[in-house]
Amino acid sequence: MLNERNWIVTEKHFDLKRQNHAETIFTIGNGYLGTRGAHEERYPGEERTTFIHGVFDDVPIVFTELVNAPDWLDLTLLLGGELFSLSEGEILTYQRQLDLRNGLLTRSVEWRSPRGVRWQLTFERFASLANPHLLCQRVRATAFENVTLEVRSTLSGETDNLNYKHWDWLGQGFQRNSAWLHLRTRSSGIELGVAARLSVNGGGNLQQTGWDTRNAPTLVTTTEMKSGEAVEIEKITAFYTSRETNDPQGAVRRALETLPKRAWEGLWESHARAWQREWEACDVLIEGDDHAHLAVRFSLFQLLAAAPRQDERVSIGAKALSGYGYRGHVFWDTEIFMLPFFTYTRPEVARNLLSYRYHTLEGARKKARENGYKGAQFAWESASTGEEVTPTWVPHPTDRTKLIRIWTGDIQIHISADVCYAIWQYWQATGDDDFMIHRGAEIFLEVARFWASRAEWNAENGSYEFTDVIGPDEYHDHVDNNAYTNALARWQLLTALKVLAWLEGRNPDKAAELRRLLELDENELNRWREIGEKIYWKQDAASGLIEQFEGYFQRRQIDLRSLEPRMQSIQSLLGIEGANDANILKQPDVVMLAYVLPELFDENSLRANYEYYNARTDHTFGSSLGPAIHAIIACRIGKPDEAYEHFMRAALADLEDVRGNAHDGIHAASAGGIWQAVVFGFGGLRFDPEGPKPFPGLPRHWKRLVFRIKYRGQFYEYDLRNSPAGGDEG
Ligand code: BGC
Repeated sequence: MLNERNWIVTEKHFDLKRQNHAETIFTIGNGYLGTRGAHEERYPGEERTTFIHGVFDDVPIVFTELVNAPDWLDLTLLLGGELFSLSEGEILTYQRQLDLRNGLLTRSVEWRSPRGVRWQLTFERFASLANPHLLCQRVRATAFENVTLEVRSTLSGETDNLNYKHWDWLGQGFQRNSAWLHLRTRSSGIELGVAARLSVNGGGNLQQTGWDTRNAPTLVTTTEMKSGEAVEIEKITAFYTSRETNDPQGAVRRALETLPKRAWEGLWESHARAWQREWEACDVLIEGDDHAHLAVRFSLFQLLAAAPRQDERVSIGAKALSGYGYRGHVFWDTEIFMLPFFTYTRPEVARNLLSYRYHTLEGARKKARENGYKGAQFAWESASTGEEVTPTWVPHPTDRTKLIRIWTGDIQIHISADVCYAIWQYWQATGDDDFMIHRGAEIFLEVARFWASRAEWNAENGSYEFTDVIGPDEYHDHVDNNAYTNALARWQLLTALKVLAWLEGRNPDKAAELRRLLELDENELNRWREIGEKIYWKQDAASGLIEQFEGYFQRRQIDLRSLEPRMQSIQSLLGIEGANDANILKQPDVVMLAYVLPELFDENSLRANYEYYNARTDHTFGSSLGPAIHAIIACRIGKPDEAYEHFMRAALADLEDVRGNAHDGIHAASAGGIWQAVVFGFGGLRFDPEGPKPFPGLPRHWKRLVFRIKYRGQFYEYDLRNSPAGGDEG
């Protein structure tokens, strides 16, 4: 694979009105940190952020958030005394490109200064994947007059999160041509060391000084340029935190000291090789649809850029590391939407992400205890400790005098089963018994215990029930017996028993240890089985239709078509209460269940439920998590054209901002869903005892689809083609 086409995301115009969307799109990262695509020079309204995995700090309302680290991009250029800014002077040519093969972001500009001096400037940057503590920048500048070039590079500890400050100053200084800064987060006490080295090559009479401004040490270099001569500026920044070392300050200084005088080339080579290895494991090729192909690769790039490779105590938030949206919090988005991509292509990363849930088990136990339950209840929104960090009250989006109560952190309980589902899927795909023995089993047992304590016996129905919950479809809260939640709870309880039985055979000592540690006895295990087998479940025998929750069919019937065209979500149109009373879904719920537990659906009920709920789902402005899942189920019932429409809605969520909110950060769950739609939807990949097997159904205009997976230690590549007659062959 690794063909030459469809690797480059291009921006052809400088447009301040859509700068925040562009910042999201041009986010780069290396699994340690992520940096939005702000420019080197500053513009009003920009959101220049760098988020480092795991660096959270307390904040009102949302409890904790990823902290915006000091900006490493900053380069102020004074060209012949004039400040370089694209808001001034004249832009003669402009192009910005992100190369998805290696995360190199390049901007080429020809600019005429207000005084009329013509400049040619090329800016490049990458976040090293080979050494994720190093960030590299290079600028090539040519002036068409004899002028002085002054370059200023500031390391600022004044960075904030939308005006909220998290950093305390500890120290700063200079060392040869570098500046360093030592900071600490205010509440969580995480220390950060950052140092930047600035070198300018070319010109004459080169001079460098340092401005020792408190909390903003600045390196300043000047050089005399001759007309037509190119000068190269190289800036290398290093970051370490006390999460990786006891001495972040020493670590950044050492990291820069050991670099050669000109470091870009060497760092680039190892970085590009590291990216190549990533793509070799997971690239997807689509022939006949460049638009979709680029969008798929963009999604995979963003997942890879956020994938923690060295750290098993962090996970990927709903916006990855690309924006303020959801403040870096981790949802079911990771386990159900993003994880399969890693499980089947980069299982080491999947293991790290699942280990994060193991390391936050204490937080989940605490949450269960505080809610009056037993075992472990995972947080709907999780950060460093696993304690619940969903805001309980948030300001109303239009009427700032009002607050809205958010219930997801209290009652969206399916997340605990979702975590187990992802562990099971990972274990099936990798055969990583070690993970199951030492981490997975304990999670399974603790979550089963939670479900058993949360279930309520209804003597009238003769069933165990889960009342007052929120299912995946968040337009409906405080509902009883949500089909997705009930089915996953049943699956989880019964699978926990299987896991324990397996562990007893495979590693009796560990099984005995867990029984002892958790004080598990036969009565409790029997109770899990009893509850699991008697959980409320209702399905219409004739049609196969499943009611999303008790009373859903009685909600106010709205024909979605009568509201089209619209530019807002059903919840904004009808209000929170209005949407709750109506039958429209924010995102798939029964259809989600059909994807996650397909064994519960025969062909007829799959079709019946898809058709019914598809017509009642807010695809355009509901949740971005939905379209990829609808695409997969549409493929399964043989509707590739409809599947393609859903698929493209997901695929363009970021690149073309189809939902109008990409400025908040990328839709990471949708990115993972896109991979699943390609592989499990159009590729139709299924696993049976003999291994993986594709049942392709490509969109009519796709000529070819190639993808790779790793399954139980072995690589599989599928090269699927659309035959001229319109059918497919494997
Ligand atoms: C969706 C949830 C999702 C969350 C974070 C919400 O709008 O309804 O399913 O987990 O966003 O992406």
